[in-house]
Amino acid sequence: MSAVLIRGGTVVNADRAFRADVLCQDGRILAVGEGLSAPAGATVVDAGGQYVMPGGIDPHTHMQLPFMGTVTMDDFFTGTAAGLAGGTTSIIDFVIPDPQENILDAYKKWRGWAEKSASDYSFHVAITWWSEQVRKDMGTLVNDEGVNSFKHFMAYKNAIMCDDETLVNSFKRALELGAMPTVHAENGELVYLLQKTVSEMGIKGPEGHPLSRPPMVEAEAANRAIAIADVLNVPIYVVHVSCVESAEAIARARARGQRVYGEVLAGHLVLDDSVYRHPDFATAAAHVMSPPFRPKGNSEFLWRGLQSGNLHTTATDHCTFCAAQKAAGKDDFSKIPNGCGGVEERLAVIWDEGVNTGRLTPSEFVAVTSANTAKLFNIYPQKGSVSVGADADLVVWDPAGTKTLSVKTQHSKGDFNIFEGRTVRGIPSHTVSQGELVYVQGDLRAVQGKGRYIKRPAFGPDFGAVQQRAQVQMPTAVAR
Ligand code: URP
Ligand code: ZN
Ligand code: ZN
Repeated sequence: MSAVLIRGGTVVNADRAFRADVLCQDGRILAVGEGLSAPAGATVVDAGGQYVMPGGIDPHTHMQLPFMGTVTMDDFFTGTAAGLAGGTTSIIDFVIPDPQENILDAYKKWRGWAEKSASDYSFHVAITWWSEQVRKDMGTLVNDEGVNSFKHFMAYKNAIMCDDETLVNSFKRALELGAMPTVHAENGELVYLLQKTVSEMGIKGPEGHPLSRPPMVEAEAANRAIAIADVLNVPIYVVHVSCVESAEAIARARARGQRVYGEVLAGHLVLDDSVYRHPDFATAAAHVMSPPFRPKGNSEFLWRGLQSGNLHTTATDHCTFCAAQKAAGKDDFSKIPNGCGGVEERLAVIWDEGVNTGRLTPSEFVAVTSANTAKLFNIYPQKGSVSVGADADLVVWDPAGTKTLSVKTQHSKGDFNIFEGRTVRGIPSHTVSQGELVYVQGDLRAVQGKGRYIKRPAFGPDFGAVQQRAQVQMPTAVAR
């Protein structure tokens, strides 16, 4: 394999930033230090004035997802290639078995689809139903296949929603196995009811989508999942936290000492619910995703969550449907396939709105776009760190480079860009994946099938360690 020497940049890790060259060879980082010399045949990248950071890890994508009667536009090649163009070098996607489908069969099916990935990838597996066989197969996934996280959809009734019986059984099993339970927190019964109510009021267009999924619907599910996890002493990770109410639920639980982690989407950090009132159906429908974009004010609260450490990771939930697919819900918003893109834009949007505004330092940026995900899903420092021995998955970041984000220039196969027209300052100049240059100043060199499946080991015996909080006397609010 060829060597790549990245010379003259500032290495940014989650814990510190320092001037150093980075030498990549045979897919790994061979050396990090000042004044490194290039081995014969090495490609030298001049990173003067730039940052050298661990490649982004997107812990929440859906490539080639069969969902709501259709399949997403991006497959594992086009989706991961788009990620590489934006500096994201790994994704964690989701195996989502149908209820009653054998979860190992579903896992094998997704592994087959993902073979065309251009970047490294891994899988959370959704638990959509419960049986003794599911319990057994969760063990096989953890012990033999390197799956250390299980997803639970608390929404999407009559499809992939799981009930409390499944949640409780699966959380308990996850704890036994040393695997992280994760939840899509929305009360699916309430969504089902509100969709009918809103429709009966005569609201059929995309503006009905957020009305049927208000923040309390998310907060109820977040609180319930957190409470179940608390009773069972299992850590929990809440995906796509979108509103004040569920971010507060996480913050409250953490203040009590519970291990609860929260993920935020780039879209939820910068967009608001006015998108659903766009007069053009296609534009409004293109923003239909769950949880929906929220009223102004929620985004700032999510930023505070990242800043304070109560929220931990950023993702995209990249799940692209084109206008023709979204048109399935032309007369009924509940039939619009849920999902938006963003895997290519996440880093630039978060840098621009996070670092350029002073909300995040570059090291904090690395934490929330890469290192925290690697730690929470147990692949650190193989991923998420610029250090000797780590995978050579890197992004060379030009803080002065600018770009106007647009569907016209994106690499995703989706036909819409939720960040359309946004000019960002801070963009990748080079992306390195497995020690190879895969993106060089606008030239994407993604190779179909080059990505590897990344096994994530189970967490050790301390995973469920818990302080006996019940014995801690909480002060009473009012002494009578
Ligand atoms: O709307 C969304 N988020 N679509 C993908 C499935 C999910 O809920 O994550
Ligand atoms: Zn979801
Ligand atoms: Zn999702």
